Amino acid sequence: MENRFVIILAAGKGTRMKSKLYKVLHKVAGKAMVDHVLTQVENTRPDEIVTIVGHGAEAVKATLGERSKYALQAEQLGTGHAVLQAKELLAGKKGTTLVVSGDTPLLTWETLSNLFEYHATRQSSATILTANAPDPFGYGRIIRDHIGIVERIVEQKDASAEEARVTEINTGTYVFDNELLFDALGKIDTNNAQGEYYLTDIIEILKNEGQTVAAFQMDNFDESLGVNDRIALSEANRIMRDRINKYHMVQGVTLVDPASTYIQYGVKIGSDTIIEPNVHIKGKTVIGSDVVIGANSEIVDSTIEDNVKIRSSVIEESIVRTGADVGPMAHLRPLAEIGENAHVGNFVEVKKATLGKGTKAGHLTYIGNAEIGNEVNIGAGVIFVNYDGKNKYESKVDDFAFIGSNANIVSPVHVGKNGLVTAGSTITEDVAEDALAFGRARQVNKEDRAKNYPHYKG
Ligand code: UD1
Ligand code: CA
Repeated sequence: MENRFVIILAAGKGTRMKSKLYKVLHKVAGKAMVDHVLTQVENTRPDEIVTIVGHGAEAVKATLGERSKYALQAEQLGTGHAVLQAKELLAGKKGTTLVVSGDTPLLTWETLSNLFEYHATRQSSATILTANAPDPFGYGRIIRDHIGIVERIVEQKDASAEEARVTEINTGTYVFDNELLFDALGKIDTNNAQGEYYLTDIIEILKNEGQTVAAFQMDNFDESLGVNDRIALSEANRIMRDRINKYHMVQGVTLVDPASTYIQYGVKIGSDTIIEPNVHIKGKTVIGSDVVIGANSEIVDSTIEDNVKIRSSVIEESIVRTGADVGPMAHLRPLAEIGENAHVGNFVEVKKATLGKGTKAGHLTYIGNAEIGNEVNIGAGVIFVNYDGKNKYESKVDDFAFIGSNANIVSPVHVGKNGLVTAGSTITEDVAEDALAFGRARQVNKEDRAKNYPHYKG
């Protein structure tokens, strides 16, 4: 097969986004737009990928890393000028070059492969990926002659009224003969409404030189959406979300209401898992089979094993083992690990703590910096007092221990196996295996003394 090269345009600032963040780094389904483009491009197995960076160059490089080579476009003089920056890396090489924008995050590798293939079969020097847009405003239009042969691309700002009525748009994606591309790039000028070097002018240049130019029209306009402003960004997110949701449903996941289910790109979910409305699943999350994620839950960068039940809870960078249940209204903060068949109930917060198999913390508890064994019972309102204002301390509670309601475990302490901490105790010293600990004042009752108090009704 012929050598394949790819140039990704990602140097623009994205003025229309009105943002501090560079346009191509805005996220769609949790992943930077330019990263989506690169991921799809990688699937077409090119020999070399060059990303053109300018605005936010360092941030773009940090996002894509070693997956691409880079060429710097110090000044943004237009898309044609941007492609020209790859000259040192690519000019003179034999092969086919795909040019794609960093702001078209919905394009799929299947479409890109079809484009390469169409280009090869037609033996053309340039093939434009086009689509029919319901609202073509803002895009470059494909101008064809009376028998339908592509003549040139005209930008919105340069289009006559008649040209502006054309609904076939330039998706900003093209395949070129590499050598002809760099020859033609030297011939474009800035003689247009925006005073920029337009890549699109190449079509007319090649045409005038007698080269074959083709257009490959794809069926699905959605894929070609170019994100220039926040309205298009929300549209891209909606389309990507539908795509991701459909994927999971096809894989055997029940989404009770896909329209209110937000699953980021790359999340993995096992079959027969049920996801209720208004759930957000983000980052590197992996969810097993037969899990129920109840309404209004948010799960970020976490692992949820099989048969887990989660109700209206927030879970971040945590692990929930098989058969456990969490919530409602629980908050698992980073590095919480909830053991097999364990139970974390209402208004329980766990941070940097491990709960063993079958351990229960049912109500209103804070567990921070602790290692809790198996089958431990943690009563209502128990607080692990882990912070003295400066340092954090860790406590350990061994298997089968029982921590009575409203106890304070002032870390660092160790409660041994079967240890029993009585309700309302403030524990500042270790409790030995099988021991019973009281850490509270004794109760004193005074006969009839209640009568002296204002609440007394006789
Ligand atoms: C471009 C096309 C238009 C097409 C549309 C599809 C041109 C002249 N126009 O318009 O025909 O319909 O895409 O989405 O090419 N960039 C650089 N350096 C620059 C300028 C832009 O790297 O000097 C990058 C941007 O970061 C962006 C991409 O090129 O990723 C496209 O630029 P943008 O300004 O968004 O072009 P459009 O106006 O959308
Ligand atoms: Ca654009």
